Amino acid sequence: MPQQFDVAVIGAGPGGYVAAIRAAQLGFSTVCIDAWKNAKGKPSLGGTCLNVGCIPSKALLESSENFERVLHKFDDHGISIKGGEKNVVLDVPKMLARKDKIVDTFTTGITLLFKKNKVASMHGIGRFAGLLPGGGCTLEVVGDAGTERIDAKHVIIATGSVPRSLPGLSIDNRLICDNVGALSFPEVPRRLGVIGAGVIGLEMGSVWRRLGSEVTILEAMPTFLAACDEHVSKEAYRQFTGPLGLKILNGAKVHTVEPVGSIVKVEYEDKAGNRVRAEFDRLIVSIGRTPNTAGLNPDAIGLRIDTRGYVEVDERCRTNVPNVWAIGDVVRGPMLAHKSSEEGVAVAESIAGQHGHVNLDTVPWVIYTSPEIAWVGRTEQDLKQAGVDYRSGQFPFIASGRARALGETAGFCKMLADAKTDRILGVHIIGPFASELIGEAVVAMEFGASSEDIARIVHAHPSLSEALHEAALGVDKRTLNL
Ligand code: FAD
Ligand code: NAI
Repeated sequence: MPQQFDVAVIGAGPGGYVAAIRAAQLGFSTVCIDAWKNAKGKPSLGGTCLNVGCIPSKALLESSENFERVLHKFDDHGISIKGGEKNVVLDVPKMLARKDKIVDTFTTGITLLFKKNKVASMHGIGRFAGLLPGGGCTLEVVGDAGTERIDAKHVIIATGSVPRSLPGLSIDNRLICDNVGALSFPEVPRRLGVIGAGVIGLEMGSVWRRLGSEVTILEAMPTFLAACDEHVSKEAYRQFTGPLGLKILNGAKVHTVEPVGSIVKVEYEDKAGNRVRAEFDRLIVSIGRTPNTAGLNPDAIGLRIDTRGYVEVDERCRTNVPNVWAIGDVVRGPMLAHKSSEEGVAVAESIAGQHGHVNLDTVPWVIYTSPEIAWVGRTEQDLKQAGVDYRSGQFPFIASGRARALGETAGFCKMLADAKTDRILGVHIIGPFASELIGEAVVAMEFGASSEDIARIVHAHPSLSEALHEAALGVDKRTLNL
């Protein structure tokens, strides 16, 4: 007789593990099935985000930012290294060990959270075996020790996403890497090539550039960071190709990628149509991610997958099969950890008969470069295209006392508000701690605030949040400190 559960979650990334905890908190007997194994071949909860995504990348971003500060920024503060920068020593294995320790702390932390919340955990590939007569599904869990069967009244699919690659190109995670290899280069490559100037390309490119690599990013699109507000992308391009020193080539068509001995040869066509040959010591391929339904056996229950590979869901994450739900990277919407987690909570609450809902219009985006980029809501080009009448306010960090004190004056805060109602439609920030500042804008938009509301709220002085306050004043053309 298979073990019986109220809720079975497939996948223990930020979507799945959070869904499992919330389901257990709501009183359901819950199991979370996950197939991830770490580099040591051990089960490791947390999915892409904790193992090879958000957390390790941010650990390396912080380390490389500190290295950059010691080399190039401390001097301005009157702090210098005796004997000059040649005495600054970089210990890459130690940096990687610190990152791995942070990852370990969080992945083992989920095991503890599962115990505390009485979530059963099974290691192996979860796949559908069939529908149960009274609703729900039978699942098979294919683990190292064999296959187990379980029955669950509700199933939440949270199987995440996997990196996309170029046709015919094999990723060895030695010379040609996806995010997994890019987070673990054993030494700083002299010449690093990156295909794709998206979020991973820019974050990982920044890490290795700051540590000393010469970084060339080949981007197929003619425009840079097309998803961002265009003022932000322009400023980002200026900062990344200027002070940060990334070489970003837009409109580049990659023709061939060939590992030869210890290097990678890449042939591409530049935007002027010239054939260019380049050589790199390592190459990162970061051209997007695709939803992961491999191994799920969706046909066993008639689960609908759309033409792009996403599990089809409605606005409440219900699939076409009763009692089967799907959340996170494997469904429509942004591929972000916080979006996955919130959908996990919403689905657990929906199963409990509550009204679980996630507002995809106010999901914040952050790119953890230096300067950071963060936004919520609509871009100015979006509004123009949709014919929306809007007003805009902008405030540069160079006029912020706190940014000056930090020595981080690049970038600005920008607010877009409806011309008639003054409701905030979008906030776009490029600058120091944009990742933290965007929180205020998310709350404001979620509560339907107007720019006038933010303009009338007292903001601490001196703080970076004053830049958002000034941007709000700017919507009404009454900026005070510019
Ligand atoms: P995942 O985290 O992908 O987890 C899915 C889990 O399901 C995995 O453990 C997988 O092994 C398991 N699984 C799959 N199929 C099965 C099966 N059949 N049976 C059992 N288990 C299965 N997002 C942010 O918001 N902020 C960031 O800073 C950020 N940085 C990132 C940096 C990098 C380098 C990358 C690659 C991604 C980053 N992301 C970031 C995106 C974020 O990692 C994802 O949006 C998030 O992990 C998605 O969560 P998920 O739970 O949907 O899926
Ligand atoms: P991405 O979608 O952000 O960027 C991919 C880039 O590659 C695009 O600019 C695209 O035009 C380009 N591209 C596609 N095909 C190409 C080709 N053949 N040649 C050259 N360029 C090509 O994808 P990325 O960077 O792989 O990241 C995947 C996802 O992971 C992100 O979209 C995001 O959802 C998530 N992520 C989030 C982070 C964050 O929140 N800070 C950090 C890292 C990843």
